[in-house]
Amino acid sequence: MKIVLPYAGIVLLVGPSNSGKSTLLKSMIDNKEILSSEVVSSDEFRVLVSNIEFIDWRERPKDEADCLFDEYQNISKEAFSMMDSVIEARCRLNKLTFVDATHLHPDDRKRYRSLARKNHVPIVAIVLDIPLDTLIERDEQRDYSRGKRRIKQQYQVFKREKRFIKKEGYTSTYLLNETNNIELVRRSNPI
Ligand code: GTP
Repeated sequence: MKIVLPYAGIVLLVGPSNSGKSTLLKSMIDNKEILSSEVVSSDEFRVLVSNIEFIDWRERPKDEADCLFDEYQNISKEAFSMMDSVIEARCRLNKLTFVDATHLHPDDRKRYRSLARKNHVPIVAIVLDIPLDTLIERDEQRDYSRGKRRIKQQYQVFKREKRFIKKEGYTSTYLLNETNNIELVRRSNPI
């Protein structure tokens, strides 16, 4: 699939955990198609604001998991606030920014559409639609599992939201079932 990237603006990756958002961006960086400084990731901002590395959610007692989840929500709030400031600054400077987070909830996507509109830059959505079985399989194999329950919840939300994303008003929307064979085309001027 050919993906045309604007000169400046926001590229939202959309997909549940394990859909391959970070892996796709990393391959683009490795291929020198994009710069690592063009990617902002919620995972990295969580580390920046709180030192918290990935949490393995498997085999934790429910009480402990609930407590950890509350702390994680607070950390996420601060992390997203910092991340959005960076994205907005980059929009003002007419830079392109890839946002690596799940973006499953409509309000999160709306926030970035508003930010793009306010700063007069385009916003592109790259949606990774990967089957649930594959997401779970990848989760079992990765170092820091997100946990089967969370993956299933995220997938249900994604399935519901997928229908609306195309109509939400992005400059372009790309729906991918796999991440091989992507041809990236970057606009080299602001027009
Ligand atoms: P979150 O950070 O949890 O939101 O996940 P993500 O969507 O960024 O997925 P990520 O790229 O971190 O990949 C999660 C796991 O799936 C890793 O262990 C990857 O190696 C694996 N993975 C990602 N993409 C592919 C793929 O195309 N094929 C296979 N076989 N594994 C993949």
